[in-house]
Amino acid sequence: MNEIEYDCIKRKIRSLTKIDLNCYKTSQMMRRLDGFILRSKAAGVVQYCQQLEQDPEEVRKLRNFLTINVTEFFRDYSHFEILRKIILPELLKYSPALNIWSAGCSDGEEPYSLAVMLAELTPGAKHRIMATDIDSESLHKAMSGGPYRPPEMKNVPQPLLDRYFNYTNNSYWINNRLRNKIVFSQHDMTRDRFPVNLDLIICRNVTIYFSNEAKAAINLGFWNSLKKNGVLFIGATETMLNAGDLGFERLHSCFYKKNRIAVPEKSKILVSAY
Ligand SMILES: C[S@@+](CC[C@H](N)C(=O)[O-])C[C@H]1O[C@@H](n2cnc3c(N)ncnc32)[C@H](O)[C@@H]1O
Repeated sequence: MNEIEYDCIKRKIRSLTKIDLNCYKTSQMMRRLDGFILRSKAAGVVQYCQQLEQDPEEVRKLRNFLTINVTEFFRDYSHFEILRKIILPELLKYSPALNIWSAGCSDGEEPYSLAVMLAELTPGAKHRIMATDIDSESLHKAMSGGPYRPPEMKNVPQPLLDRYFNYTNNSYWINNRLRNKIVFSQHDMTRDRFPVNLDLIICRNVTIYFSNEAKAAINLGFWNSLKKNGVLFIGATETMLNAGDLGFERLHSCFYKKNRIAVPEKSKILVSAY
């Protein structure tokens, strides 16, 4: 597609799905959309936009394609082990009831993995776990606590499966006690206000396709949301470009601690430019 067609489909997607493609890497997104439109059998971008107008099912497919909801319980298990053995015990020294945000939580596997871990580490403690996503379909499954298919469960040790899940009709469901520990809501990280006063933010595999400007703005948002000594947990293949400028200290691969409280001047400039 050319730039005029890209502008046209960006506007259409924004009006039908609220997703703002200006926050994504342009050339990568154009390539992905070209492939998607080709597979849709529409003759071109203009015809595809017309199809979107008339077919809510096509809008749903496109939204799923853009949001990429792939996830699983205890994804990148070794990183969850660092969380369990090092990061959480350190955070619990400052606060026995943690305030946590799972941003871009997809179908809920990530915040439920965390809730399981906390229930094991601190039985009876009243942590606050918020979990958000832009995609209402994913949130519906997350709030229902399932169904989760066996392949998504491959990293969950058997004793935890027995304690926190019910198994029926070849699917797993989160038990009610665990389900009530998480508050799910719809939230767009490129537009909506971020929660504050957080001990831990988990945002993994969400911003990988975002432009550097959008990522910088989001990282500054995370920085503002965290308490001093709060920790940001990112995805296994991600790096934080402006970590040092923001005053984030890299603790382990994928874990960054907010280690100062003054607003970083350099990042203010970066973000106001965006
Ligand atoms: C690949 S999944 C990652 C799920 C989980 N964090 C993990 O690592 O397994 C990416 C999720 O980010 C969500 N997402 C994409 N753009 C978003 C935005 N602007 N605001 C909030 N969530 C977004 C998608 O809907 C999707 O559920």
